[in-house]
Formats: sequence, structure tokens, C-alpha cells
Amino acid sequence: MRFRHLSPQVADGSRGGLGTVALMLRLLFIGDVYGKPGRRVLAAHLPSIRGAYDVVIANGENAAGGHGLNAESAKTMFSAGVDVITLGNHAFGHRDVHALLGSAKVVRPLNYPIGTPGGGFLTIQAKGERLTVVNVMGRVFMDPLDDPFKALDDLLEGPDLGSVIVDFHAEATSEKAAFAYHLDGRVAAVLGTHTHVPTADARILPNGTGFQTDVGMTGPLESVIGAAPEGPIARFTTRMPTKLTVAEGRAVFNAAALTLDGGSCVAIERYAFTEPA
Ligand SMILES: [Fe+2]
Ligand SMILES: [Fe+2]
Repeated sequence: MRFRHLSPQVADGSRGGLGTVALMLRLLFIGDVYGKPGRRVLAAHLPSIRGAYDVVIANGENAAGGHGLNAESAKTMFSAGVDVITLGNHAFGHRDVHALLGSAKVVRPLNYPIGTPGGGFLTIQAKGERLTVVNVMGRVFMDPLDDPFKALDDLLEGPDLGSVIVDFHAEATSEKAAFAYHLDGRVAAVLGTHTHVPTADARILPNGTGFQTDVGMTGPLESVIGAAPEGPIARFTTRMPTKLTVAEGRAVFNAAALTLDGGSCVAIERYAFTEPA
């Protein structure tokens, strides 16, 4: 099995000196796991690298057939080494998610209306420190949920959350960048999901927040953001409703690898692995 690191941005990890290295938190954030190919590459590859990370978070909004998260998909992801699953606009695509939101480490976007099942953030212990995973959705070319900027402002005014990792599930790159700068210095990282295409801009913002516009998808490589190409092509060329199916073939595993220190990000780099042909 091969894997490769892509390192467009690696921050100076020397802050704090060697004496604090043991307290640093190594975190892997895996982009939208899509259908069976995504679950397959996750289950096959993550265990081989799991030991390099203290915490693993994965977006599972497309894990069950491309739409939603069911019990079997969640089980596969947790068994592979995922600690927390985030969601997105397909959060409620499968009815199993209602039980999962109540019983497992699964979070749905924070800015759904009051009364929506589940919660938008989850605080866990990682190396004896508090780490909070937040999932929130953008509103540009997306469902008109509550204001994500206000939702995070309100959340961060509350009780101490420890280090905060935000999965910002959004379409527009401008909204994602504005959101990340709005939170710079207040959260450890803002990691974009939803577009399924990894962006080459992983970096640390001026006040210590790690940011990548989109982490990319963990799913079938020869696809239109996960779907077999003929479905989207038919939709674009005929404008007729066309059923989409999950593409087959080898899968890609896209993630962001971060190092956190004292609630800030001190290193971020893209991580990618593609199944052999
Ligand atoms: Fe997605
Ligand atoms: Fe999405």
C-alpha cells in the first residue's frame, strides 16, 4: 500500500520548544467519506496510519450510498479508528442518523433551527485536554440555515470548549475564507468540507487558526464528486431528473493533518492516498 504526503504548508512547529512536544495534539481530519469506495479506503488505510494521530475526525455525510449516514457506515468508520463523525447538508439523508445523533459521537451542523435532532458540537478528552468538534454549514448556494458566523460567536461566548475544530460545510470559497478569518485566533482550525475537491491552500492564519478551504473527498476517484459520471452528465445535458449512483473503481483518501498546541494550530498539511490501480 502506498501513501504520499503533500506539504504545501507546514508551519513552524518550534513554538513552545521541545519541553511541550508531548502536550501537542496530532489530529487527522478526513474529508467527506463517500459511499462504499470511501468506506473501503477508509477501513483499509486509516488503521495503518492511526497510530500517528491522537484524534481522528471524519465527515460522514455521504457515507451511506452518497446520501447520509446509516448505522452500518458509522460502525465501519468508528471501527477504522474515527473518533468523531461530522455531517452536512445530507445529515438527515438516512433515518438511522436520528439514533446515531443520540447515542454515538456524531454531530450535525450547529446552525439548523432550534428543535432539530442532535447537537452541533461535541467535547471530548484528547490527551487529557478538552477538544471540541463543531460542525456548521454555510449559506451561499446552500440551504438557508441560521447565520453560521453568529452561531459560532454565540457558541464561543459560552463555557470553555478547549481546543476547537470547526468543520465548515460550505460551497463558496469566499464564505469559507471569510468564516475562517472571522474565527482566526478563537478556534484551532477551520476545515472546509462539501465540495469534495481538495484545495491547495492549507495554512495557518495570522492568529493561529489552521485553515483549508476544502479537505476534499474520501471516495471514488473516477467520479463527479462521488457520483458515476453518466448521471451528472445526463442532468447537465438534458435537464431531466436523473438518478445518481455511486461511482466504482479505486478510491482516494483526502485529509488534513494538523498539530495543535494550546488551542492553536502549529502545523497543517494535506494528506492524500490513492488506492493502487
Ligand atoms: Fe459531501
Ligand atoms: Fe455536502
